[in-house]
Amino acid sequence: MSEAQNRLIAPEPKADDRLDQALRPQRLSELIGQNQVKENLDILIAAARQRSEPMDHILFYGPPGLGKTTLAHVLANEMGVNIKVTAGPAVERAGDLAAILTNLRGGDILFIDEIHRLGRVVEEVLYPAMEDFALDIIIGKGPSARSIRLKLPRFTIIGATTRLALISPPLRARFGAVYRLDYYDLPAMQTIVERAARLLGVQANPEGIAEVARRARGTPRVALRLLRRVRDYAQVRAGGAITSTVAGEALGLLSVDDLGLDEVDRLVLKTIIEKYDGGPVGLSTIAASISEEPDTIMDVVEPYLLQLGFLDRTPQGRVATRRACEHLGLPFPQTQQPGLFSS
Ligand SMILES: Nc1ncnc2c1ncn2[C@@H]1O[C@H](COP(=O)(O)OP(=O)(O)OP(=O)(O)O)[C@@H](O)[C@H]1O
Ligand SMILES: [Mg+2]
Repeated sequence: MSEAQNRLIAPEPKADDRLDQALRPQRLSELIGQNQVKENLDILIAAARQRSEPMDHILFYGPPGLGKTTLAHVLANEMGVNIKVTAGPAVERAGDLAAILTNLRGGDILFIDEIHRLGRVVEEVLYPAMEDFALDIIIGKGPSARSIRLKLPRFTIIGATTRLALISPPLRARFGAVYRLDYYDLPAMQTIVERAARLLGVQANPEGIAEVARRARGTPRVALRLLRRVRDYAQVRAGGAITSTVAGEALGLLSVDDLGLDEVDRLVLKTIIEKYDGGPVGLSTIAASISEEPDTIMDVVEPYLLQLGFLDRTPQGRVATRRACEHLGLPFPQTQQPGLFSS
């Protein structure tokens, strides 16, 4: 595992996150934040119920850890239907998908995580399944081959992806509803941490909650993980209660700064600023200089830095902003090409 994937604030799931299952909201009304998405889903559910039909196919996209999987399960609960779960890389052959589809019952939800990683051939099985609820099966080989069409019950596909751009246009077009999940704002993050602390039976005052929430990068999964580490620290070093001082000390010790940046974030920014005069510098060059995979930097490090306004993507490459320099206490390189920040 690379350093970036191993970090405390990595938004991807880790082994001990399984405990979070118990904290997962079950109903739409328990979900915090994402109000616009929630309202749209509420309408979708009500309309499907009124017509006694399954919901339209739904695609969720956005950075990891924001609740795509949670939402899929919530929708199954709200509709009172079964949910089957699979993931793009797990469906290797067209036959695998055919087996999953023929086992669905009317109204079921099929959740396909990382749907951008489905193979081409598998994807082509999905097209008629999503559009006409039919499976085209080729029997025989060569000139005598013929195709028969198998009727499937009506079901709902819920797809999730961190990379909308990697979803082929024909697949994307078959989703009736496409929703983008965004980082949570601070009040929503505070409510999420508060709820988790209550469910875990952790003693915390509002300032302690706020401190954890502020450093969690707008990502519920990160918030829950930081809360667990701060809980440990509070238990061992501070008599159990989480205050803002306790949270600050605990997270400082874990190198998570007051904006939630960790060593890898700082390393990426420092590399751009110090080695490449603030940029522009290509993603693969940055990745090579810090021995990380470009994909990891793009999926895991960049989205939050872009959100903070610490990084710009330009056609020439990545650029570190003045704000990033100020945060790190580094001088802003003067050699940057003028005009890069005007867009
Ligand atoms: N709106 C929310 N309110 C409260 N808790 C939430 C919310 N959204 C997510 N969570 C919590 O955050 C954790 C991560 O959410 P989830 O697994 O759904 O993310 P994801 O978007 O599917 O991530 P990935 O892209 O890595 O699969 C869950 O354990 C859940 O408890
Ligand atoms: Mg998920």
